Amino acid sequence: MLTGGGDCPGLNAVIRGAVRAGLAEGHTFVGFRHGWAGVLADNTLELTLDSTIGILPRGGTILGTSRTNPYADGADGTAAVRAAMRRSGVDALIPIGGDDTLGVAVALHADGVPVVGVPKTIDNDLGGTDFTFGFQTAVQIVTDAIDRLHTTAESHDRVMVVEVMGRNAGWIATYAGIAGGADAILVPERPFDVEEVCEHLVRRHGRGRKFSIVVVAEGATPIEGTLAEGEGQITRGTSTDAFGHARLGGIGVVLEREVERRTGYEARVTILGHVQRGGTPVAFDRVLATRFGVAAVRAVAGGRFGAMVALQGTAIVELPMAAALAEPKLLDPELYATAEIFFG
Ligand code: F6P
Repeated sequence: MLTGGGDCPGLNAVIRGAVRAGLAEGHTFVGFRHGWAGVLADNTLELTLDSTIGILPRGGTILGTSRTNPYADGADGTAAVRAAMRRSGVDALIPIGGDDTLGVAVALHADGVPVVGVPKTIDNDLGGTDFTFGFQTAVQIVTDAIDRLHTTAESHDRVMVVEVMGRNAGWIATYAGIAGGADAILVPERPFDVEEVCEHLVRRHGRGRKFSIVVVAEGATPIEGTLAEGEGQITRGTSTDAFGHARLGGIGVVLEREVERRTGYEARVTILGHVQRGGTPVAFDRVLATRFGVAAVRAVAGGRFGAMVALQGTAIVELPMAAALAEPKLLDPELYATAEIFFG
């Protein structure tokens, strides 16, 4: 087993679930530390009853994680992973990760490596599964933060801008925005016009509501041409990770500045950042992660390689991983329409 990509509440629950279910049926487990990096470097940890005791409520991952790509720079990732599996006596791999980590798993499966994937991300943007574990925890953390920010918003008559994670999907922003009673939610799926956002805030204030909460997803962008050159610039370094992703973040700072400048209202931004991934998973995520771990072991034992475990409705299912991950799962427009009813 290995955990790759960003850490996520529930990773340890998957590990524990798989180990407990597998040991009972005579399997043994090796954990690779720090994602695919540990596979390439033979950096392992034996996963036993003892080494997985007490980890269910723990955030992060006891295995460590990284964004290493075994295929980076044209490397023969398949040969390297196969050799590592041989050296460690591993028959099958269970990578737990998002589209990058599982993208590697898809490539390995295409080359005949026995692998079963477990989807993970706080962003909830993976295809094939209704929810990923970690998402509900992130939503709860953001909701708690919005509740607290209401106090300052009301006391100071301020516009509080809350920037949340989610990469190119607005799931966290919309769920937490609905739960926290946000007055505007800006998501990547719906580029925004900052002038319209400001007009909306002015109308709201005109109705006697002297404060506002604006939730903005880190991947939300202004409609092209709606901010003058330089105004919408978000600078968080130019580097990309091994999978080519830029570091997102900073749109909240732009909004804070533009709201103040255009409306005259005092505005403050809070960028929640990695707090959203930290700490203990909520009960829903513990249960989902446990079910995923158990299901992954069953898929391996049944020889159903190339599968990804997923949640559909209330059932845990197995799907062909490549097809499930072919498209990201973007925000449901109906959910956003529901959120909009409460703007203002
Ligand atoms: O995919 C999870 C996530 O937390 C995104 O929401 C965010 O954009 C990214 O990871 C941050 O990555 P890092 O931990 O490398 O800064």
